[in-house]
Amino acid sequence: MTHELRHMLRDDDINHEEQKQILKLGMKFRENRFYSRPFEGPQAVAVLFDKPSTRTRSSFSIGVAELGGYPLVIDKSSSQLGRGEPVADTARVLTRMAYGIVWRTFGQDRVETMAKYANCPVINALTDQFHPCQILADFLTMAQFRGGVDALAGQSIAYLGDAANNMSNSYLLGGAVAGMHVRVAGPEGFLPDPKIVADAKAIAEKTGGSITVTTDPREAVAGADCVFTDTWVSMGEEAEYAIRSKPFWDYQVNPELMALAKPDALFQHCLPAYRGKEVTSSVIDGPQSVVWDEAENRLHAQKALMTWLVAWQREDSSLLGD
Ligand code: CP
Ligand code: NVA
Repeated sequence: MTHELRHMLRDDDINHEEQKQILKLGMKFRENRFYSRPFEGPQAVAVLFDKPSTRTRSSFSIGVAELGGYPLVIDKSSSQLGRGEPVADTARVLTRMAYGIVWRTFGQDRVETMAKYANCPVINALTDQFHPCQILADFLTMAQFRGGVDALAGQSIAYLGDAANNMSNSYLLGGAVAGMHVRVAGPEGFLPDPKIVADAKAIAEKTGGSITVTTDPREAVAGADCVFTDTWVSMGEEAEYAIRSKPFWDYQVNPELMALAKPDALFQHCLPAYRGKEVTSSVIDGPQSVVWDEAENRLHAQKALMTWLVAWQREDSSLLGD
């Protein structure tokens, strides 16, 4: 190792150029233009889950294996972490055996503690605050359908619904890093933390992007290149189901709202989706929806992220195909 350790805990842990490098590598993986085995050995990557998952679990398991490594997938229910073993002790143990740690958990402080005590890269596979791997896949999907990675800066994206959740926060930060015009809309009481908005605005000033937070779904969607939404009830909020269903109806992505976006606008959803709630079937199963490419792109984007983190540490750009 010749470089300082890097982690991916939130979307602004990488800068504009680094995000582009990762997305360009993701595009190479997507198009089968590049073969890289940074974990050949195989070296193990621990993939930990404190919450359920289909896409993240499969894309990291398959992705680590495709990079020549061994994915050690551990659920909360089958680990001592789930019985209260300290995060720091878990980090100290895993770092002796694994080349990287990928973790889906609750508070952002937990992945930060893991990164503090681990002597290997730590990747946030979703916390209550951020979902940075999803954003890389979503932007890779935009690049796929909108003229490549270099075309991303300057695109307008709209996110509707629970604007205080992890996806909203990650679109704000990740979109700012990309130099996009990011607009998020949600009802009062479900708007993003002003601290995250301020961070996103500071980044957007440097990248040429912009940040708009509004309660008006029409303002957010007007002229957008891509419209995003997410569940109104995130993992861990199931007890709030009744109170969370009501405030969001004006933010449902339906044909009327989609008609305000650009005529060729894309629709994306991180999934799982609740048809008839945050999005109508006509939209998610319609011609503008690219959700299955988006899901596939989790694999390519995360392979690119993991390879990039290894290339950074080893100062070996040949791993990126450059
Ligand atoms: N989008 C996403 O992270 O899906 P899973 O919860 O299935 O991993
Ligand atoms: N906001 C959702 C995203 C799921 C991928 C959740 O946290 O449950």
